[in-house]
Amino acid sequence: MNPDPSHSELTLPDIVLQSLQSGECIQLLLCKPSDKQVSAFKKVTLRPLIIKGKSHYQFALLRGRQEVHENLLWEESIPRIKELWTEHFREGYLFTQQADYHFRKTKQGHVSMKKHAPTKAQQKEAETHNRSKQYLIPEGVPCAFLEAIGVMSGAGKVKAAQYHKFRQINRYMEFINDIVPSLPGSGELNIVDFGCGKSYLTFATHYLFTKILKRRVNITGLDLKQSVVAHCQQIAKDLQCQGLTFETGDISRFQSGANKYDLSISLHACDTATDAAIAAAVSSDTDVIMAVPCCQHELFQQISSLSQAGLLKHGILKEKIASLVTDALRALVLEICGYRTQVIEFIETEHTPKNLLIRAVKRQRQLPGRELRELVHQFRSLKDQYGINTFYLEQALGEQFKKLCQMPGYAMTGNDG
Ligand SMILES: C[S@@+](CC[C@H](N)C(=O)[O-])C[C@H]1O[C@@H](n2cnc3c(N)ncnc32)[C@H](O)[C@@H]1O
Repeated sequence: MNPDPSHSELTLPDIVLQSLQSGECIQLLLCKPSDKQVSAFKKVTLRPLIIKGKSHYQFALLRGRQEVHENLLWEESIPRIKELWTEHFREGYLFTQQADYHFRKTKQGHVSMKKHAPTKAQQKEAETHNRSKQYLIPEGVPCAFLEAIGVMSGAGKVKAAQYHKFRQINRYMEFINDIVPSLPGSGELNIVDFGCGKSYLTFATHYLFTKILKRRVNITGLDLKQSVVAHCQQIAKDLQCQGLTFETGDISRFQSGANKYDLSISLHACDTATDAAIAAAVSSDTDVIMAVPCCQHELFQQISSLSQAGLLKHGILKEKIASLVTDALRALVLEICGYRTQVIEFIETEHTPKNLLIRAVKRQRQLPGRELRELVHQFRSLKDQYGINTFYLEQALGEQFKKLCQMPGYAMTGNDG
């Protein structure tokens, strides 16, 4: 028996991967979910798309009655589609200019494939993604919390100086809306916002879940600053925001207690406060983690590389490299901890240079040993390459992370065994 599904005969047919790589895929449909639960994916449809001149695939994922979209670069699409096929579906259809293909997992433990004449060959090149912008909180419609935090007037007009904040809030809400299918489908949701500050995001999250999605929530905003927390608490009381509370405290001392969190968010939590937020979320087994990192100082002093001396000798370049390496290490730590992780652009760079979003969704199944080893290898190599001895997030996770990196039978090279 082979417990690693990526090694079984049930892998996605080569023709599917080739057609995605070559751009010959007009449409790909995965159906017949292996899990019949209401919360499971029902269907995924994939089609090519050009966004800002770059080839992407749009994944339309149907879960229950809700459809969410993910637009991924083609190279990101391959691991995603493999994962969806392996974990969620039994049958699929591929449409190309040359032929249609129908493939399915058989009871005998392999994938059967039938080829038919093409039915969608007349469809042209990938469409340009040109949706007119429809915000979750539209401009012109009064919104009590945006008024209370000074972004909108009582009549729903966005104040000129607050327009970037308005866009940022809406953008973040879209990202949160996209991960809703990865949260429990019913019951009260436990959410924490680390380093909530003036709590634009916390109120927006509350608004999205309670007013738009009609869910019950228990949202906690946590911040070091007592005066800010008291102010937010007052606004929440004035607006009668049920299930929204604020606490004063240090993220690095956060205790989840008996609570299991469904969603953890942190927006521009300073320096290693982002790492503390990620560590707290991982330790409390949070389903979805969204972190937009802030300024980064931790690795700047440590980073060195003989082979890249020319790159690191200018402070401003070294700062950028230190930030990139930090975020790459954060993403690797999350992947090692069992999260499907993406680093994506949060908001256009003209508004803020701190524009990366780390989005991590807990996997339903453990990573195959071979993939875990590869991730640990990447993590260690990156640290070695830049002479990094200590990394806050790794230390904050302590034994939990150490154990994952030292799986029984772990070896940096060699076969899976
Ligand atoms: C740049 S503000 C961002 C506030 C808010 N998330 C936003 O985007 O509008 C960073 C916030 O993180 C809080 N903070 C920084 N380190 C923290 C820590 N260790 N524990 C709790 N809060 C922290 C600061 O007090 C500050 O309010």
